[in-house]
Amino acid sequence: MTKALAHPNIALIKYWGKQDKLGNFPATPSLSITLDGLVTETVLTDGSTDRFVINGKEQDDPKVAGFLGALRASLSVPPLEIETVNNFPTGAGLASSASGFAALMTAINAHCQFGLSTEMMSDWARQGSASAARSMYGGFVSLVPPLWRAYPAANVDHWPLNVVIAITSEEKKDVGSTEGMRRTAATSPFYPAWVKDAPEDYATASEAIAQRDFAALAGVAELSCLKMHSIMLTSVPTLSYWNPTTLSCMDGVRDMRRNGIAAFFTIDAGPQVKVVCLPDSVEQVQATLRDIPGVLTTKVCALGGNARILD
Ligand code: PMV
Repeated sequence: MTKALAHPNIALIKYWGKQDKLGNFPATPSLSITLDGLVTETVLTDGSTDRFVINGKEQDDPKVAGFLGALRASLSVPPLEIETVNNFPTGAGLASSASGFAALMTAINAHCQFGLSTEMMSDWARQGSASAARSMYGGFVSLVPPLWRAYPAANVDHWPLNVVIAITSEEKKDVGSTEGMRRTAATSPFYPAWVKDAPEDYATASEAIAQRDFAALAGVAELSCLKMHSIMLTSVPTLSYWNPTTLSCMDGVRDMRRNGIAAFFTIDAGPQVKVVCLPDSVEQVQATLRDIPGVLTTKVCALGGNARILD
């Protein structure tokens, strides 16, 4: 039996769109923070066939099956019973696939005694879900060309940011990221501009993180998020991951900023709003989000560490 843990990450500079080649390579550079309060734990045991159980329910997951298939083309992986538990809503825009594939790869590496480096594990995790490459590492993480390999851009202690998550729905999203990205690349008239501008946004964010310049990071991170949602919204058929509460939370963050609170929002392929702030604003940010009608719960996270094996 082998048990591994990984945290989800949220991208401040978003990845949306894939390169037109095998291996699940992103079309845009991305930069994320790993979150400590959200946890995926995965237990592996040898089985007679593969079985995948998530939060107590057996599932046929084509992404997991495809991932195991790709691994087995290069490595000898026996049939596995995989039991995964998330302490947060699954498939609802909280990066459960990022922590899921990072935990699974970490567990397989130990269970099968492959001795792969974190870089190699991150490469494999990317093939399951590109954002999973980033969840192999804690702190601030980049996923960039030319190798499209994730690497730690700054560690957890470099800048102790907090993230307050406003959960606005626990439902699973209708359109997953793979289909969503395909649709966006094929139909949004703004997709080429998104791909062209992403390296500059990435460079601006990297510099802001290096300098611990919150206002600069806030500006470019919100812009990257809104650009990504713009290309989603202008896909045909449209991809809208927001609900009315998502919009109220965005307005709430803008109001807080007008009142001098250093905070910015980011939103992924789901209706949850993640508000990044400095530690001395956490209470105020949480209280504000909690009072917004439609917010179901809030959760405060700090920056989390690497994916790892649990004894
Ligand atoms: O790695 P995937 O297929 O779950 O896609 C992640 C896409 C976003 O979460 C919206 C952005 C990102 O960079 O994590």
